[in-house]
Amino acid sequence: MTESLVSTGPSSTVQAAATVATAPVDHLPLQGIDHIEFYVGNAKQAAHYYRTGFGFRLVAYAGPETGVRDRASYVLEQGEIRLVLTSALGPEAEIARHVLVHGDGAKDVALRVDDAAAAFEAAVARGAEPIMEPTWIEGQKGAIQKATIKTYGDTVHSFVNRSQYHGTFAPGFVRRDDPTGEAGVGLQRVDHVVGNVELGAMNQWVDFYARVLGFSQLVHFDDAAISTEYSALMSKVMQDGSGKIKFPINEPAEGKRKSQIEEYLDFYRGPGVQHIALVTDDIVATVETMQQRGIGFLRVPGTYYEELPDRIGEIEEDLSALERLGILADRDEDGYLLQIFTKGVQDRPTVFYEVIERHGAQGFGVGNFKALFVALEAEQAQRGNL
Ligand code: FE2
Repeated sequence: MTESLVSTGPSSTVQAAATVATAPVDHLPLQGIDHIEFYVGNAKQAAHYYRTGFGFRLVAYAGPETGVRDRASYVLEQGEIRLVLTSALGPEAEIARHVLVHGDGAKDVALRVDDAAAAFEAAVARGAEPIMEPTWIEGQKGAIQKATIKTYGDTVHSFVNRSQYHGTFAPGFVRRDDPTGEAGVGLQRVDHVVGNVELGAMNQWVDFYARVLGFSQLVHFDDAAISTEYSALMSKVMQDGSGKIKFPINEPAEGKRKSQIEEYLDFYRGPGVQHIALVTDDIVATVETMQQRGIGFLRVPGTYYEELPDRIGEIEEDLSALERLGILADRDEDGYLLQIFTKGVQDRPTVFYEVIERHGAQGFGVGNFKALFVALEAEQAQRGNL
């Protein structure tokens, strides 16, 4: 495999050049993803969807009943994953404008830190655009320290220090014991969060994560690896110093027709979070349950499974179960992974989820990209957008 990490030209034949991450000084140590907040049109109904379909548990709520006048927020958890779904209660709020422009979407990929002021100052000193200055939000059970910077599009990263807080989620929230008692579906933690950015902007955001947050580039997929007859994209995966946080950045590449990334950018009206990958250690059980609960997944053509045994070799799982559920498999030098992608989770063809089970492999399923993109384009064509 050729080591060529900066080449992004269409003539490049590099398929997926892995690099040994150089270890820069971690001027901004991150503990992990604290939560991901979505701005949505109707958080009450969205919460029901994530609880029923994805097995999340409602743990906290803030809204008029708790003294918050302009919004309602539902905090959902499963394993280490925490989602916050927020709706505006009137047209004046910034949340309402965000939903008007983008539809339902991920607003804040919040990062847990020891010191939100130090993280904010380090990020701003390295060129981040500030959104919210470091603030202590006080409550009866302590205080949360929070600060926010801008990333691609209207998306932000908050830094959250909850070391001085012992209550439920954050001051202003009350605990909610989920009345449905839905059992989880086995989702454990966030594996990666992918951003789509405009044509030509990928390297700018790769630089942003390197310079501002001290991330390093893990892998690069060029348009030779990720192209079909019609469309193409390029992607670079950035990760933090600990390797716990992975943020791939996609941009569209020139193709015969509109790429899936362009379709996203058209309907999201700009850059934003494309998909969130969630880890399970039993993908067959997780996906079976999610399908029974009505979550729709992308299906690749049946021929995929005819070729799979040769490509994947010996794996623990029963190939017929993978085929029945539409789960994909890929192998790299470290092992294999199993993955599947939901259909979009709102009417606009924007945000979707990935469910992933890793058996050693640290990659992103490059061997599945073509089959997946053919499946994606079939859906895109049905929407009249190819
Ligand atoms: Fe992914």
